[in-house]
Amino acid sequence: MAVQKKPVVVEELRNDREGAPAPLIQPWPSSGSMGAETRGLLTGSDGIYVRDAEGRELIDGPAGMWCVNVGHRNEALISAMSEQARDLTYNSPWYTTTSPADRLAEELAARAPGDLDHVFFTTGGSSAVETALRLMQFANNVRGRPEKKLIVSRQAGYHGSTYLSASLNGRPRDHDWMDSASHLVRKLTAPDPFRRPEGMDLEAFEDFLVEEFAALIRKEGADRIGAFVAEPVQASGGVIVPPKGYLPRMAELCRRNDILYISDEVVTAFGRLGSVFASSDVFGIQPDMITFAKGVTSGYFPLGGVMVSAALLESIRSSEHTDAMFSHGLTYSSHPIGCAVALKNLELLEDGILDHVREISPYFLESLKRLEKHDLVGEVRGMGLMACIECVADREGKNPLALDLEVGKRIDRHAQELGLLVRPLINMCVMSPPLTIDRSQIDRMADILDQSIRSTMDDLTREGLWKGR
Ligand SMILES: Cc1ncc(COP(=O)(O)O)c(C=O)c1O
Repeated sequence: MAVQKKPVVVEELRNDREGAPAPLIQPWPSSGSMGAETRGLLTGSDGIYVRDAEGRELIDGPAGMWCVNVGHRNEALISAMSEQARDLTYNSPWYTTTSPADRLAEELAARAPGDLDHVFFTTGGSSAVETALRLMQFANNVRGRPEKKLIVSRQAGYHGSTYLSASLNGRPRDHDWMDSASHLVRKLTAPDPFRRPEGMDLEAFEDFLVEEFAALIRKEGADRIGAFVAEPVQASGGVIVPPKGYLPRMAELCRRNDILYISDEVVTAFGRLGSVFASSDVFGIQPDMITFAKGVTSGYFPLGGVMVSAALLESIRSSEHTDAMFSHGLTYSSHPIGCAVALKNLELLEDGILDHVREISPYFLESLKRLEKHDLVGEVRGMGLMACIECVADREGKNPLALDLEVGKRIDRHAQELGLLVRPLINMCVMSPPLTIDRSQIDRMADILDQSIRSTMDDLTREGLWKGR
């Protein structure tokens, strides 16, 4: 384990509560404040806005956690949820099924690409990725090739917080103090055009990335690699959009070497890129499994799942071990309330929201792209309704590390004062608003970001931390 660098201390985010913090262990706490941290209090929400304890409305820049796709307080989703709760509150998927689960499976199978015509429902994204990986392991066990288990993921990727899914995560600092199943995982370079080697053009970078995977397959042997797991756009890594031919070429390598391609669409599915599933519609690839969560219920109910190909299922069914048990299932798999919400959510997406995303995304990206005029901003990039503002200490060196690592938090603090929640990620701000956002709301968002970046540059200059201008 590496010794972690001492973080730069930044004044805490706005916190209007008094007294001792609730006995709540928050996600991703620092050890020094674990179980003793108070985070800002939200009390309400509507459309693209959330409301804080003082009654101030803030634009929900990250749509919760990339998830509130149809916006907050949608009456149709609230009714679907409450009606299902009245009809049938819970069903044990071990013994019986329900109409919402069966219908949702049918609707998703009809929309997923190629032969991905079955689904296993989970409770969220981590459990979806975990399920896909365990299914790969199980398939190779029953097919008599127990050595074919290595999982290939990428730097800057994020796949979850359960043991195996987290082992795939690509940010080194997330492994500093955490154990992981690293013996099962091999990591490739992030397909990040902004951080490609100096002097290498995009085509050469794409070739380099594909060749790196090919070399790994040669080194480890195709008979030892079970799966390649990849987000089409690396979301939490900073909205990294790969070079155009990269994903199809990686998929082709998988196909030729009998490696399962698991497309992690926990963020990109259900509208963020203007499609129900983006793998085939947007990137032209045909995965063996697609994991999803978040937007499937617009965050109103914890639900996720894995679309599974007919070919993979057939290979399991036709193995000689027909009585081998896939000992994997969750108490809340196929939850009827979650599935009822997801059915209504899908209807809303297809009743205009997907069209709206395709129509408005260029405006969203152009508006944010203008922020590149600031010296602190190295690049604004994005796709659909997801974007990242990456800050750098100096543009030529693209060096984020010489700069205050918490610059994203600083921008967020100013933005909150002006009415916008930002998702700070070290030196980056990630924006993924509810899909219903309109042009004037985008203008407001871009305006607040513009002012917040200016104020941050002033602060950094005053504190002697930055000489960018
Ligand atoms: C691509 C991706 N996969 C998996 C996950 C894990 O999902 P969850 O937090 O619902 O477990 C996330 C969460 O942000 C994600 O972005």
